Amino acid sequence: MAEDLQIHTGTKAEQYQSLIPQVKGLLEGETDLIANMANVVAALKEQFGWLWVGFYVVKNEELVLAPFQGPVACTRIKKGRGVCGASWAQAQTLIVPDVEKFPGHIACSSLSRSEIVVPVIRQDEVVAVLDVDSVNPDEFDTTDQEYLEEIVALVNF
Ligand code: SME
Repeated sequence: MAEDLQIHTGTKAEQYQSLIPQVKGLLEGETDLIANMANVVAALKEQFGWLWVGFYVVKNEELVLAPFQGPVACTRIKKGRGVCGASWAQAQTLIVPDVEKFPGHIACSSLSRSEIVVPVIRQDEVVAVLDVDSVNPDEFDTTDQEYLEEIVALVNF
């Protein structure tokens, strides 16, 4: 797929609904995981304009920075540390409306106000997380959770 991403306005759900078939198109026929993670985060960043969108992958009992869009970020996160490490440890999506109220939040950017982290689970193991940060407080809700979980399920981890 070589066409530009079509950016849609409308409700959050409508934006995801227009994006998901395009993400499927981007992933179709490509087996390289880094290429696929890169296009997923680029598509999300382009559609929603969030501060930071990226993957961390589990390597040797740490989360290690993988393809992302946004400001430079910390490269390694231990299990249970920060929102990403907590999502990994709990194997569940975490929605943080105010990062300053999350104990142990790792501030990669001082501009981040709210965050969602979605674990990527394969054969009952967390193999990566998708982390999204916003400059707006309370940006993320269960709509984001539902669609971001659907999007990470499409990627060939
Ligand atoms: N805030 C995250 C760290 C990663 S950056 O936001 C890109 C956390 O607390 O795990």
